[in-house]
Amino acid sequence: MGKASRDKRDIYYRKAKEEGWRARSAFKLLQIDEEFNIFEGVKRVVDLCAAPGSWSQVLSRKLYLPAKLSPDPKDADLPLIVAIDLQPMAPIEGVIQVQGDITNARTAEVVIRHFDGCKADLVVCDGAPDVTGLHDMDEFVQSQLILAGLTIVSHILKRGGKFIAKIFRGKDTSLLYYQLKLFFTEVTFAKPKSSRNSSIEAFAVCENYSPPEGFNEKDLHRLLEKIGSPSSADDLDCSSGWLEGPNKVYIPFLACGDLSGYDSDRSYPLPKAADGSYKSLDPVQPPIAPPYKRALDMKKASSHGVQGLEKLSLDP
Ligand SMILES: C[S@@+](CC[C@H](N)C(=O)[O-])C[C@H]1O[C@@H](n2cnc3c(N)ncnc32)[C@H](O)[C@@H]1O
Repeated sequence: MGKASRDKRDIYYRKAKEEGWRARSAFKLLQIDEEFNIFEGVKRVVDLCAAPGSWSQVLSRKLYLPAKLSPDPKDADLPLIVAIDLQPMAPIEGVIQVQGDITNARTAEVVIRHFDGCKADLVVCDGAPDVTGLHDMDEFVQSQLILAGLTIVSHILKRGGKFIAKIFRGKDTSLLYYQLKLFFTEVTFAKPKSSRNSSIEAFAVCENYSPPEGFNEKDLHRLLEKIGSPSSADDLDCSSGWLEGPNKVYIPFLACGDLSGYDSDRSYPLPKAADGSYKSLDPVQPPIAPPYKRALDMKKASSHGVQGLEKLSLDP
């Protein structure tokens, strides 16, 4: 597929390059904010699974830069933005980067240390595993990232804080809803206009962090497992009873973003210059060390003969 044909088919991809975003995902966070006003009053935020960095750019542009460019900026008042990913990413003004695995307790400790005893107002997580196309498997691996996000949330989110997490909608969506509802008074599953309808992706928008009375972070897994077993639903304050049958509660689901705006599943004509030509822009900041780089190197080497391949063994 040529660059121009991708620009035509995916308007958010083209707009991202025009507006200087590293990835089209930036629009998803912006559209969630349009509906839920998630940045209001936010001073400390964690961006989990941040590379190549378009959500961190949104956080920098919406929170850090306005404070930095204000008439009398004081260092202590500048918002703190910590971004984590397995992959390194190019620097973004006002964003502290941590390279690590969010499912690893040590990564969580590094983040907590950056907050120096203070709590975060907002945690966002756009984490995605390498999708296999097997929906059950993808949904399961995705849920592990949400769980890791929730572990970090349970350590550093302030009461009343917000958590936004990418989810894959599947047969266990209601279980996830109840698990999140245990910690937040408001949970809505949102589908931004820039997220393709053909994708099972959506975002859990969790507002007003209120862990159960006497909650100890060490009990997180036990509590989540408990909610997965019908017999224990009664002793947890989850309003529905159970996930199926007449008591089943319908999960609040909201399409967000300007609904008369661009449709991510449509093709749009390309804007033409005066001479009738169209020039595709290069990506703003491609990932600096993407996981597929090795495969590309190997492919290049194989086209130059077996010798090149020998130099690039599969071992890290
Ligand atoms: C869809 S991308 C995130 C895009 C990003 N929000 C943006 O706007 O540029 C998903 C990211 O999740 C990261 N990821 C997946 N599993 C992870 C893990 N266990 N720990 C940290 N990052 C992870 C991947 O490296 C990838 O960069």
